[in-house]
Amino acid sequence: MTLTLKDYKTLTSEEHKKLLAIRNQKEVREASNDTSEILFKNHILWVKKLHPKRYFAVLYKDEIVGGANFEADGASVTNWGVFFDRTLAPFVPLAAVYSFMEYLFGSYNELFSQVKKQNEKALALNRYFGVEIEKENNTHFFMHITKQRWEERKKKLASITKRIEKVEIIA
Ligand SMILES: CC(C)(COP(=O)(O)OP(=O)(O)OC[C@H]1O[C@@H](n2cnc3c(N)ncnc32)[C@H](O)[C@@H]1OP(=O)(O)O)[C@@H](O)C(=O)NCCC(=O)NCCS
Repeated sequence: MTLTLKDYKTLTSEEHKKLLAIRNQKEVREASNDTSEILFKNHILWVKKLHPKRYFAVLYKDEIVGGANFEADGASVTNWGVFFDRTLAPFVPLAAVYSFMEYLFGSYNELFSQVKKQNEKALALNRYFGVEIEKENNTHFFMHITKQRWEERKKKLASITKRIEKVEIIA
């Protein structure tokens, strides 16, 4: 399979609409810090202000199927996240998360993230990819993985890697 990560800043108007429809799905909103619906005009204004190469749409078979994003400071990713169309076959998110983590570890040494405690899907994905809970507060788990741990975990992910032929970055 081929996956594409396309910078939000390079999306066409149609692609923005498709992306936002997924970002506004109930499950994605509930997993977000701000659970309100994002209006198209606010989305476009927000994208204009984004730093390049931080928020990417995920495309599979030329269709937008989700998003992946991160923030960084020095050699660390301070937060990252993913979301996908709920109707997608589970293999696509697995391949996309794998590909995004590989992309991040191409430039950074460790990844931190914050996941809402009730976001069981994200917690399961994190666990699957070797991301560990470092601490927690009332609402969130604080997750962490080093590049070294990722290199170890990757060796056990052949069932995913063998199916990914190409990952394209459009930025
Ligand atoms: C559900 C999910 C979309 C998280 O949302 P989030 O924590 O609110 O983070 P986002 O990056 O989407 O949003 C950051 C800010 O940008 C805004 N934003 C995000 N997308 C936007 C859009 N398309 N248009 C306008 N504003 C947007 C949000 O409203 C939010 O604003 P706020 O800081 O005022 O609350 C997803 O990224 C997630 O589950 N993250 C948890 C971590 C995780 O999954 N890690 C890896 C799993 S293997």
